[in-house]
This record gives sequence, structure tokens and C-alpha cells, in this order.
Amino acid sequence: MLKKKVEDILNAQIEKEGYSSNLYLAMASWAETNGYSGIAQWLYVQADEERLHMLKIVKYVNERGGHAVIPSFKEAPKEQKSITDLFKAVLEHERYITDSINNIVALTLEEKDFTTQSWIQWFVNEQIEEEAQVTEILDKLKLLGNNNLYLFDRDILGMRGDVGGNSGA
Ligand SMILES: [Fe+2]
Ligand SMILES: [Fe+2]
Repeated sequence: MLKKKVEDILNAQIEKEGYSSNLYLAMASWAETNGYSGIAQWLYVQADEERLHMLKIVKYVNERGGHAVIPSFKEAPKEQKSITDLFKAVLEHERYITDSINNIVALTLEEKDFTTQSWIQWFVNEQIEEEAQVTEILDKLKLLGNNNLYLFDRDILGMRGDVGGNSGA
């Protein structure tokens, strides 16, 4: 049975993962309507992954005798200034999520909930991958400046290690 504090922090994380999904979906839609179909595709896949993260927590909370609550989500920004700004915002958001996952780890230790502590490690590792992947994208964009975004848009899907949905989520 989950302790109330652990249930609450996991419910808060459900909201964050769900918002992440909507955020990337909104970015995908912006990219698609601005001619960046490859980047849009990358973001659509990312949005799906975030939804799976949310579901993973929903299932866990319910399996452990808690009640996963599905909240409403605040509206994600409709517009982006540029592709570089978009990916900077993705990295900033992922860092925020990493902090949030770390706070869950800390609470599980405080509450001596070693089952959840072990289960949440999957998210700890996922965040390492996500930050690394977006950092790599930003490094490439820095090299390109604002040139050759056409080629970048074509090549970005090749930068996913898990094209084809093999993300283990
Ligand atoms: Fe996530
Ligand atoms: Fe993420």
C-alpha cells in the first residue's frame, strides 16, 4: 500500500508527464504547420513517449492500492520563435522533469518506500537519455547556425536511437 505522501508526489508527476506530452504535441503541430515535417515527426514520437510515461505511473499507483488521478492540463504554448528556441525549451523542460524525478527518489528514501525507490529508477535512467539526446540536437543546431535546416529536418529522425518505438517505455 502506497503512503499518502508518495501517492501525492506520483499524482503530481502524472500531471507533469501528461503536460510534457501536450507540450511536445503542441510543438509538433507548430513545426508541422511551419514546414518542418521531420522535426514534427520527432516531436510526435516524443509526445507519445511522454503519454506512456504518464500511463506507467497511473498503472503503478493503482496497482499499489492508490488512486491515480487524471488532472486537466494547462495549455501549452502555440507558437515557437525558432527551431533552436524550441529545442532549448525542450531541454529546459526535461531538466525540470529530472529535478522532479529526483525529488521523488528523495521522498521514497525518506519514507523508506524501497519498492517505489527501485521502480522509479527506470525514470532516472530515462531522463539521462532524454537530456543527452536533446543536448546532441542542440549541439548540431549550433554547428548549423540557421543554415541547412532543410537537411537537419530530414536527418533528425536518424538521431533517435529508438526509431520504430523501441524505447522500452
Ligand atoms: Fe517523461
Ligand atoms: Fe521526457
